Amino acid sequence: MELPSWVPDGVDVTVPNVARAYDYFLGGYHNFAVDREFVARVEAVMPGFGQAAHANRAFLGRCVRWLVDAGVRQFLDIGSGIPTLGNVHEVAQAAAPECRVVYVDLDPVAVAHGQAILSGNPRALSVEADLRRPAEILYHPQVLDLLDFAQPVAVLLMAVLHFVVDDDDPAGIVAQIRDCLAPGSYIAVSHVTDANHKQEIEEIRRLYDHTPTPGQARTPKQVEALLSGLEIVEPGVVAVADWHPDPDAAGAPRSELILGAVGRKV
Ligand SMILES: C[S@@+](CC[C@H](N)C(=O)[O-])C[C@H]1O[C@@H](n2cnc3c(N)ncnc32)[C@H](O)[C@@H]1O
Repeated sequence: MELPSWVPDGVDVTVPNVARAYDYFLGGYHNFAVDREFVARVEAVMPGFGQAAHANRAFLGRCVRWLVDAGVRQFLDIGSGIPTLGNVHEVAQAAAPECRVVYVDLDPVAVAHGQAILSGNPRALSVEADLRRPAEILYHPQVLDLLDFAQPVAVLLMAVLHFVVDDDDPAGIVAQIRDCLAPGSYIAVSHVTDANHKQEIEEIRRLYDHTPTPGQARTPKQVEALLSGLEIVEPGVVAVADWHPDPDAAGAPRSELILGAVGRKV
């Protein structure tokens, strides 16, 4: 099969991939038949699952605006995904042009596309690294070139911690990141939950076992525990649409399948 020019060398287009599937859920075109078939299988288990992706993306945008209003000017977006509408640097730099943003993903398509759209933006860059080895991110020379960890940084872990299974110690990973941050920093998360629809979520989890990044859902309490050592800002761990909704939120995407929360380092 001849691949489009945006596909980096070595990308396997014969197995579904979560970054590309998420891109398809959001209406993007950086995906292949195998990813679209995967999304169809997920939607067959739970029609409307894709709504969670839209609700999550809207949460990401609101969260970044809230963080800029709170005074944050540096963002480390880990598991950032394939760039799409409402990327962090666009939202943050529209509100405060001096904002600096580092994107991190383990997916080469996400990183290559990020690097392509960020060429010419001196205050944003995209690097390939794995959240399961946080030291490689926190001490990455390019990350340290752009971000000053002596000043507040907002670390965004949006829809990525559910790809870190308990055996990989997600709480330990978040704690390692937290310990590198200055007071006044934030860690924002969104996370798939199995508080409802347990059986369907388990079936979907088994589908994700066929991707390079298997995962697991967590309860609201488990998500809260991931932010231990941080002060969780109001309204706490809630369905993403209920986290600081826009005043004109009627008709905004909703999903009870994905929780959002923001913790502040004091
Ligand atoms: C569902 S997408 C979320 C994208 C974006 N954060 C958002 O919320 O719109 C999950 C992303 O996390 C990435 N990812 C999964 N496991 C990862 C890991 N261990 N380290 C870095 N990125 C990871 C995937 O490649 C994918 O791009």
